[in-house]
Amino acid sequence: MAKIIFKRGDETFDINMPEGARVVHAAHKLKLPEIPADCRGQCQCGTCHVHVDPSWLDKINPMDLDSMELFLLERSKNYDEKYSRLSCEIYITEKLDGLTLNLVDDNIKK
Ligand code: FES
Repeated sequence: MAKIIFKRGDETFDINMPEGARVVHAAHKLKLPEIPADCRGQCQCGTCHVHVDPSWLDKINPMDLDSMELFLLERSKNYDEKYSRLSCEIYITEKLDGLTLNLVDDNIKK
């Protein structure tokens, strides 16, 4: 199990997730409105965008450049070259216990 932590400003939301799940599953269980994940984790919609906490960047699996991930991220409102990832493309392992992601408001209607 690994604890996955999401941050929205000063608020935090966390959940323990089994190895092999993906970060988008954690967001789904927590019902986070920032991550509707419209394509249900198929790397096709871009609505599961998060900013990875800097201290975790070198611990998560790298982006698969053959996937649609970068294409989708570059079209996201809050794209950040350094910190942006699609949460459906981050695989949870025991080593990621405490993984922290910052929520972005790409999908929040104002
Ligand atoms: S859930 Fe659609 S791209 Fe991640």
